[in-house]
Order: sequence, then structure tokens, then C-alpha cells
Amino acid sequence: MRRVNKDERTRISFTLNGRAVSGEAESRMLLTDFLRHVIGATGTHVGCEHGVCGCCTVLIDGVAARSCLTLAVQAEGRAVTTVEGLAAPDGALNALQQAFQRHHALQCGFCTPGILMSFTDYLARNPHPTEDEIRDVLSGHLCRCTGYAGIVAAVRAVSAGNSKQPS
Ligand code: FES
Ligand code: FES
Repeated sequence: MRRVNKDERTRISFTLNGRAVSGEAESRMLLTDFLRHVIGATGTHVGCEHGVCGCCTVLIDGVAARSCLTLAVQAEGRAVTTVEGLAAPDGALNALQQAFQRHHALQCGFCTPGILMSFTDYLARNPHPTEDEIRDVLSGHLCRCTGYAGIVAAVRAVSAGNSKQPS
């Protein structure tokens, strides 16, 4: 049986936000570190590095995944989406991002990229979640600032097809 050399480097290629990217990584390099330190895509944040806080969440083939629990080599040939891929090419924020802005769903913003990615996945599967369902998704994320009420309001606004501040 071939022994795995942890220092062995592998060339990894995948699609990041619709663009082909490639770089070398050690066998045990995490996807978070590959994105941030090899590719230079620092929108994905790193908190606990143990799958608890959710701030490192990205989409892999459209499905939310903790990039701190994913090896970079597991992204080979896949389509990875990070928070940098949400806005339009001209920088215009998408509906979910606009709703977060309008409903004051972020303060320091450290948790925000991961929460946006989780709801991007979730709303694609369940466009009209109940408040309980929204809070269930949020249970996989830690925010030390907002108290979560603004986040729930933002997601509800998107769900209702109206990201404007309610009067
Ligand atoms: S850094 Fe990945 S879940 Fe906290
Ligand atoms: S906005 Fe600061 S941790 Fe969530």
C-alpha cells in the first residue's frame, strides 16, 4: 500500500466563482487555507477551524460545506462558490446581500460570508422557509454581534420577494 507523504504537494484545479483556478497544496492543506493563502480569496473567513462557527462556509457544487473541514484536494474538479461570487461582475450586491444591508444583519461582518453562503444554498432548496427553519439554519453559525434578529428579518424579506425595509 502506498504511504501518504503529508508534505507531498499536489496540483489542484477547480472552478472558483466561475473562473478556473489552480495551485499547489500539501496533502493535508484545508480548503480554507488554499482559498485564502494560495488563491488569495480572503472573503471566506476562518474562526474555530473545527466546524463549529460556520464562518468558513462555501458552496461546493452548490452545496454548503465547511471549508475548514474540507481538504483542498477534495475540491479537485469541483465548482466552488465563495462570498466573492455572490455580487454581479459590476459589484452590484445580490438580493440576499442587499437584504442583509437593509435589515442591519451584520455589524463586524466576520460571520457574514458563511451565513450568506449557507442561505444561498438553503433558499435555493427552500425559497420560502418558516422562521423556525431560518433559525435552524442559523443554529450552524455563530455571530457575536447581531443577536440574529436582523439576519432572520433579512432572510424573511428575501423569502417574501421583498428585500426593502418594512415600514
Ligand atoms: S472556521 Fe470552519 S466552522 Fe469555524
Ligand atoms: S456580525 Fe460580528 S460576528 Fe456576526
